[in-house]
Amino acid sequence: MEKLWGGRFQKDTDKLMEDFNSSISFDSKLYAYDIQGSIAHATMLGSTGIIEKSEAEKIINGLKEIKEDIEAGKVEFSKKHEDIHMNIEVLLTEKIGETGKKLHTARSRNDQVALDLRLYARDSVIDLSELLKKWMEALTNLAEKNLNTIMPGYTHLQRAQPISFAHNLMAYAEMAKRDYQRLESWIDIHNVMPLGSGALAGTTFPIDREMTSKLLGFDGPCMNSLDGVSDRDYIIDLLSAASTGMMHLSRLCEEIILWSSQEFSFIELDDAYSTGSSMMPQKKNPDAAELVRGKTGRVYGDLMSILTTMKGIPLAYNKDMQEDKECLFDGVETWSKCLSIMIAMIETLKVCKEKMLAASKGGFTNATDLADYLVKKGIAFRDAHKITGEIVFECIQKNISLGEFTLENYKNYSQLIEEDIYEDIDVRHCVEYRNSIGGPNAGQVQRSIENIRKIL
Ligand code: ARG
Repeated sequence: MEKLWGGRFQKDTDKLMEDFNSSISFDSKLYAYDIQGSIAHATMLGSTGIIEKSEAEKIINGLKEIKEDIEAGKVEFSKKHEDIHMNIEVLLTEKIGETGKKLHTARSRNDQVALDLRLYARDSVIDLSELLKKWMEALTNLAEKNLNTIMPGYTHLQRAQPISFAHNLMAYAEMAKRDYQRLESWIDIHNVMPLGSGALAGTTFPIDREMTSKLLGFDGPCMNSLDGVSDRDYIIDLLSAASTGMMHLSRLCEEIILWSSQEFSFIELDDAYSTGSSMMPQKKNPDAAELVRGKTGRVYGDLMSILTTMKGIPLAYNKDMQEDKECLFDGVETWSKCLSIMIAMIETLKVCKEKMLAASKGGFTNATDLADYLVKKGIAFRDAHKITGEIVFECIQKNISLGEFTLENYKNYSQLIEEDIYEDIDVRHCVEYRNSIGGPNAGQVQRSIENIRKIL
């Protein structure tokens, strides 16, 4: 069959150009959305009388059969027909004859591709939201088992104050909650239908956009046809949400990599999610975590790619916009795979509670608690800070912890210090006493777990 737009041309397209111009190698992924959109369009054409009802039915049945053929592996797409839209239209006319040529009445590939990709993005948002829920579930389940697993909290990667492993995990659950909310807001903003924008300036036919919008589950048709065919904000917002989501996963991966090192030994990854070395027989590497960290850069690249593509193109459709697909597919698929592997990794990792506890006892993580103790005895915080600093310095000289410093020694610094100091600087108590909203106290963390579970 000759090109669908061949009438005006005297020469065949050069083979190199045909290859360069075509998008079928990647946009064939959109076949189901293309058919869904065409069925809605044909239904509307039939119901408004733009084509005969019987013609619409014939088209719809043909499209359904094509979908089955594609899914049965019976269809081979051709670069000659450039993209999924023209490939399906050609297949339709081959299947049902002349009537197939009426499907494209009152439509352009420009509003067609804008529709297909938006449908893909919307489904992706729904799938990713489900995955994020599973991710929050995995984090909260592991957190609940570790409400009393004490570990050091860090700033500057220096031991800072004791927290619980649950508290650390729930920080990531809070991030995941925001990632989830970002996707919810995507639906609020972008569930708008471009179909009916035509090539750029609508159509002279009496189309019913409210009808197609309802059929396709949109909140309504877009209100400007130029914007309708050339808006790609929905891709940018989705890739931006993916970038932020990946950044969150990457930060946790960095911690997982550190924690599973022998220097920390806080956790052990399951064999099923680690790999060995081709040379060093003893090795067990956190490859999954490293790959997620690495793939984060790739998703940022996807976002940069679409932002840069869009920055200089005039209204309305320009072929640059064919470059909108691979980055979107890649960003969505990468985020989705990374979430799945993170869920599995978190569900199977072993927590080395004793190592965490031991680490939290070193590095004077309870120094703030000693200062707080002095404040409760009536000393101003700034003075308490200074006294505690001096005590820590002496302990470092003696190579002992605050718990090993004798009461006699404490009294040299302040007569107000009594035997009860040892209870206040016990790391378990340090965590328990941090009972402010959002703090590491087990009850507070349980509260945040319940809060996240409300979404699930
Ligand atoms: N393959 C094109 C794309 O992916 C479809 C739209 C083509 N429209 C056009 N006027 N050439 O963007």
